[in-house]
Amino acid sequence: MWSRHAADYEDIFLDPYEPGVVNPLWLALEAVADPGTKTIADLGCGTGPLLPYLAVRFQNVIALDFAPTMLERAWARLDIPAHARTTFLERPMHELDDLAGRLDVAVAVNSLVMPDLRLLDHTLAAVKRSLKSGGMFLGIVPSIDAIAYHLMLLVDQGLAQGLDEREAERVAGLRLERRQYDFALGRFRFKGLKQKFWQPFEVEHRLGKAGFTVRALEKVLYPWDDSLPGGEGLAGFPPSWDWFFMAQA
Ligand SMILES: C[S@@+](CC[C@H](N)C(=O)[O-])C[C@H]1O[C@@H](n2cnc3c(N)ncnc32)[C@H](O)[C@@H]1O
Repeated sequence: MWSRHAADYEDIFLDPYEPGVVNPLWLALEAVADPGTKTIADLGCGTGPLLPYLAVRFQNVIALDFAPTMLERAWARLDIPAHARTTFLERPMHELDDLAGRLDVAVAVNSLVMPDLRLLDHTLAAVKRSLKSGGMFLGIVPSIDAIAYHLMLLVDQGLAQGLDEREAERVAGLRLERRQYDFALGRFRFKGLKQKFWQPFEVEHRLGKAGFTVRALEKVLYPWDDSLPGGEGLAGFPPSWDWFFMAQA
């Protein structure tokens, strides 16, 4: 299923690597001491936007994804020195037994999105076991609370333009594909792909359940631009966000 999205997923998901995005992941990666002696895994690396940066800084990089088309594109991004430091693994990220206790850092950017909660918990526990004691798990997860915020702003915008409440909600709902979201359970459906979206309390809950200590939970801030529905008209409001976490094994 994910392989079908290799060509277009940059258009579907918010890109935390774009200039203008305030992304705490960069500072967290910069803060890793002696990266030249360390092993890092990019779990659900996708087309590999983070890999060139990781392969310059870290001694060993593991690029893992279960979608072969994603890995093909990630492979093509790297130059020869980066390839020498990078191991590609085509598999689901709960299959980490052979890496138990070997990773200094694990990263998961917009890849902890499996809607099956048992699989999600199982995956987090596997990531915990793959890390050395004290190792760091850094991640970005899509935020469901930011969708509610965005919807509120679009409804307000419709009201300010003179629509009645029902029409303002209808128009805002259409622009944001409201019917594709389950706000209570944090799920989103797109082109046959079901995705998990997160509340901040759930990040703390699930990481804690897997045995991690959450050291930071911060917003990744996205400027209101044309990557967000109606974004151009919302520039005067505080930005939208996803959730960045830093958790210690
Ligand atoms: C939205 S993309 C993000 C890719 C990349 N981390 C980035 O920042 O651009 C999600 C990626 O996670 C991968 N993925 C999702 N669930 C996975 C799982 N359980 N095991 C391995 N890869 C997974 C998908 O194949 C996809 O490449």
